[in-house]
Amino acid sequence: MAFTDVVVVLFLWCGVSAMAEASDSSINRVNVSVYYESLCMDSIEFLTTQFHPAYLIHGDKINVDLVPYGKAKANNDTGRWNFTCQHGPRECYGNKVQACAVALLDQRKSTEFVVCTMKSGDAAAEENLYKCASENNVTFSEIKDCADSSKGDELLAFNGYRTTSVKPPIRFVPTIIFNDSYNQTMQDMALTNFSSVIDFLINQNCDNCKSGQSNFSSSFPYILLMLGVLQMFKL
Ligand SMILES: *[C@@H]1O[C@H](CO)[C@@H](O)[C@H](O)[C@H]1NC(C)=O
Ligand SMILES: *[C@@H]1O[C@H](CO)[C@@H](O)[C@H](O)[C@H]1NC(C)=O
Ligand SMILES: *[C@@H]1O[C@H](CO)[C@@H](O)[C@H](O)[C@H]1NC(C)=O
Ligand SMILES: *[C@@H]1O[C@H](CO)[C@@H](O)[C@H](O)[C@H]1NC(C)=O
Ligand SMILES: *[C@@H]1O[C@H](CO)[C@@H](O)[C@H](O)[C@H]1NC(C)=O
Ligand SMILES: *[C@@H]1O[C@H](CO)[C@@H](O)[C@H](O)[C@H]1NC(C)=O
Ligand SMILES: *[C@@H]1O[C@H](CO)[C@@H](O)[C@H](O)[C@H]1NC(C)=O
Ligand SMILES: *[C@@H]1O[C@H](CO)[C@@H](O)[C@H](O)[C@H]1NC(C)=O
Repeated sequence: MAFTDVVVVLFLWCGVSAMAEASDSSINRVNVSVYYESLCMDSIEFLTTQFHPAYLIHGDKINVDLVPYGKAKANNDTGRWNFTCQHGPRECYGNKVQACAVALLDQRKSTEFVVCTMKSGDAAAEENLYKCASENNVTFSEIKDCADSSKGDELLAFNGYRTTSVKPPIRFVPTIIFNDSYNQTMQDMALTNFSSVIDFLINQNCDNCKSGQSNFSSSFPYILLMLGVLQMFKL
């Protein structure tokens, strides 16, 4: 291979990887993690009155990360997971169901299912879970099998690990974390006006992508790619 061909291949590679990055829309999404509990009034209030209306408008610009666990405790002394939840064992079941839904379904279905169960008044009641699943064309038996098995235990234990790893330690449930870093101002704003926070973060992201696309330094790889193609075909 001649030196110019190596250079051409390099140019092509740079251009293609730059395009791959630009086309992966999840990179420019706002990451929103919600640490909550299935039977907690403040969690219900946040997810149904703040989170869901904003999700309906901007769902495609958000990476939703629902982490049901909250102030639960996990114990593995006997070699089997045993959880103690703030609102009793039924809450542990509700948390496992939601953790399983997040693991098994795509973002839109799991989000709608979880919000529906939270809206139902009792996110651990079997009839509400069935109803919310069927409304979203989801087979509840798959979620239930997961929640009743060691898979459900492991998913909830992992949520526990994530929840207790948050810095500073979570004091309030729900805690909302944008972009993986806790910020008290953002938390307070999220609880009172979540959609204004989402608007703010989306606009911030979009300013970045617009200025990135319109100046020479970011179009440089594409110019190289074009020159490379011309060179390759000896045009
Ligand atoms: C907890 O118990 C499970 C068995 O249910 C075991 O597979 C796992 O390794 C244990 N995890 C820890 C962190 O002790
Ligand atoms: C699980 O934990 C609770 C509360 O700590 C305890 O009362 C119960 O005996 C434990 N169950 C098992 C099977 O270890
Ligand atoms: C469920 O499926 C039905 C029939 O295919 C469809 O009309 C409906 O829009 C779907 N609902 C949801 C929430 O996906
Ligand atoms: C997210 O964090 C990254 C790295 O810390 C930062 O560059 C970016 O601006 C942040 N985005 C938002 C929306 O906070
Ligand atoms: C969002 O999370 C994904 C991984 O889940 C990560 O790759 C991405 O950098 C995060 N975005 C921001 C803005 O932090
Ligand atoms: C928290 O967010 C606010 C509003 O976006 C910002 O002004 C402030 O600098 C952030 N604080 C930290 C510690 O990042
Ligand atoms: C949320 O904030 C926006 C502006 O950012 C405002 O227009 C809207 O009225 C606020 N909503 C509530 C419920 O305070
Ligand atoms: C051009 O885009 C690059 C990369 O996105 C950025 O680092 C640089 O600050 C931008 N320059 C101007 C003048 O906007």
